[in-house]
Amino acid sequence: MRARVGASTVVAGVVGAPVRHSLSPLIHNAWLEAVDLDGVYVAFAPPAERFGAFCEGLRGGAIRGLNVTAPFKEEALALADEPSARALAAGSANLLLFETDGRILADSTDGRGLLQAFAEQAPGFDPASGPAIILGAGGAARAAAAAFVEAGAPEVILLNRTQARAKATAEALGPPVRALTETTKTALARANVLVNATPAGLAGSAGPTVELARLPSTAVVMDMIYRPLRTALLEAAASRGCRTVDGLAMLIGQARPSFEALFGRAPPAIDVRTLAEAA
Ligand code: ATR
Repeated sequence: MRARVGASTVVAGVVGAPVRHSLSPLIHNAWLEAVDLDGVYVAFAPPAERFGAFCEGLRGGAIRGLNVTAPFKEEALALADEPSARALAAGSANLLLFETDGRILADSTDGRGLLQAFAEQAPGFDPASGPAIILGAGGAARAAAAAFVEAGAPEVILLNRTQARAKATAEALGPPVRALTETTKTALARANVLVNATPAGLAGSAGPTVELARLPSTAVVMDMIYRPLRTALLEAAASRGCRTVDGLAMLIGQARPSFEALFGRAPPAIDVRTLAEAA
């Protein structure tokens, strides 16, 4: 067993506000320990208005990089010198890398995490075989929509509490993304997949108001929320016979390529899900 932290330890972490309940340190440190890699992954919660200054102070590689969570993902993209094509499409970055020459690189691994979650929990699901309906129109919805477009979805429909915002987000992404125009029932009846990208249902709050009665039982339903793991939306979908995908699978799915970028090797195949569930 190596000494936990020393002079050559690579430091990385997650930044958000709040970040105290983040499962990312648990996941990344479990991977680091399993491969005996000299690194540590911590959590930072700068005051929201100081996020830009906080990142500027890290230029030059004081730490290797950061995962970024709410509410900083859009700002993280904006401050980067070199955003990846995926981050630009997602309109946000969940990963910043601080290069030794001072550059800040930004990437988004959220879309890969989302698709990985489907691959694990709904094997055989094909994003290209029908319309995707995304609940929400914020950063999370945009990242999900971009991932489905990249995966070949023929139609991506944004259904949001504020219709004008759905239109604006859809226009930013362009076809095949569009805001809902038909009735919700008509759209749901054709859906291949439904994703909740709103905070509705978080920590026991009321879930999305969408009525699942018309959703075909072949559709897969995903909730980005992982507290609770089995949201009311997922329970309702399962009781209709739909396969479900949870937010913890996405969290772990986005963490894998993040770990590789931060520490230079793929994470080991250990069961971090059971650890995260226990936490
Ligand atoms: P994020 O970056 O995590 O997506 P966001 O940009 O604040 O966060 O967007 C949150 C999204 O969830 C928005 O689409 C919001 O709807 P509005 O555009 O009408 O504000 C949606 N949302 C938030 N709380 C909601 C709730 N209780 N019910 C339904 N939609 C909700």
